[in-house]
Amino acid sequence: MAIEGSIPFYKPLIAREEIAQLVEAVESGWLTTGPKTLEFEAAIARYVGSPFAVGVNSCTAAMHLALVATGIRPGDAVITSPITFPATANVIEHCGARPVFIDVEPDTLLLDVAALEDFLAAPERKGIAADTVKAIIPVHLAGQPCDMDVIFALAAQYGLAVIEDAAHALGAEFHGHKVGSDYGLRFQGPWASCFSFYATKNITAGEGGMLTTNDAAFVDQVAVLRLHGISRDAWKRYQLAGYQHYEVLFPGYKYNMFDLQAALALPQLSHIDEWQRRRETYTDLYNQGFADIKGLLPLRIKPNRRSAYHLYVMMADSARLGLTRDELLNRIAAAGIGVGVHFRSLTVQKFYREKYGFQEGDFPVAERASEQVLSLPLFPAMHESDVERVIRTVRKVLGV
Ligand SMILES: Cc1ncc(COP(=O)(O)O)c(C=O)c1O
Repeated sequence: MAIEGSIPFYKPLIAREEIAQLVEAVESGWLTTGPKTLEFEAAIARYVGSPFAVGVNSCTAAMHLALVATGIRPGDAVITSPITFPATANVIEHCGARPVFIDVEPDTLLLDVAALEDFLAAPERKGIAADTVKAIIPVHLAGQPCDMDVIFALAAQYGLAVIEDAAHALGAEFHGHKVGSDYGLRFQGPWASCFSFYATKNITAGEGGMLTTNDAAFVDQVAVLRLHGISRDAWKRYQLAGYQHYEVLFPGYKYNMFDLQAALALPQLSHIDEWQRRRETYTDLYNQGFADIKGLLPLRIKPNRRSAYHLYVMMADSARLGLTRDELLNRIAAAGIGVGVHFRSLTVQKFYREKYGFQEGDFPVAERASEQVLSLPLFPAMHESDVERVIRTVRKVLGV
């Protein structure tokens, strides 16, 4: 039962415009992939500054298709971060490939590029044959871009594909270029950014995803793979004059975005900049509100980056606070404030731990973060007074 005056972890802002567009799409009679999806794809491509965008039914599907289109096969190795949602590594497993986790930086929890460079110089030291390492999936955790200068440079040096997990990062920027563009870095290898429009994301379709890239051939391949592997414009076959036979080019997937998703998400794009500013303001308020508490440390935003401020993540140091992260979570939740954990390291999760035999101490930063991270409500439907209430509640729970 909701506590009176409680603040949920997330609540979407769905206005009349979104509902009107949704009704219009339903009344049009075209319910699956069609003109609204095309319009949304074009709008996202314009917004991030990428020549191409392909709509799919989740970010998970976008990452899976990007790996398949890159040619990732059983026996290959794909590098990623352990502090992420399971989908990031699960899609690597779906290809029969092996996820190679590289530990994260202690202050941002983003992939540690110095550790990445060390690994790539001698993957054999970790029992991975150099010629099996094919791609890297950097995770832009909480909306802050990873160090893409170094990641693209290493990818070019070692011939790796780059598939960005940008589930949290629509609106984020690196050196003034949006995530989803190639940041002006002109990377020549296979590359794609994958976004999520899941219910809690900065703009939402309930469920949904998008892939952007600068490579026309890559985008054609993904567009075919997302709909059973049949020729690209199959959705048009009912509109064209005369019966159109489709051709199966590959045993593809059922991953297409459909028009009702696009109709719901598209109008939200006109609010995203204002919503991002609001998220930033609330992040600043949280940072100020907790600045004097030594045991609570927010993620650091590095220079030359603009976060999408998707999540407000803090690390709770139990030794300094005198209570564990889980005790703190439970007390905040009991006071009517929604909380989250983003994320416990995949290296401590049963499947990955057992399959790859990870031991305590293999990923010291990610393991510590697993015990420390917690997320507080951060969404544009909140008011400053809600943020202040969350701060007061956390301080009260901590007795400070
Ligand atoms: C970091 C990260 N990557 C990928 C995903 C998967 O996104 P989707 O639910 O759209 O498949 C999520 C979902 O929350 C996520 O947090």
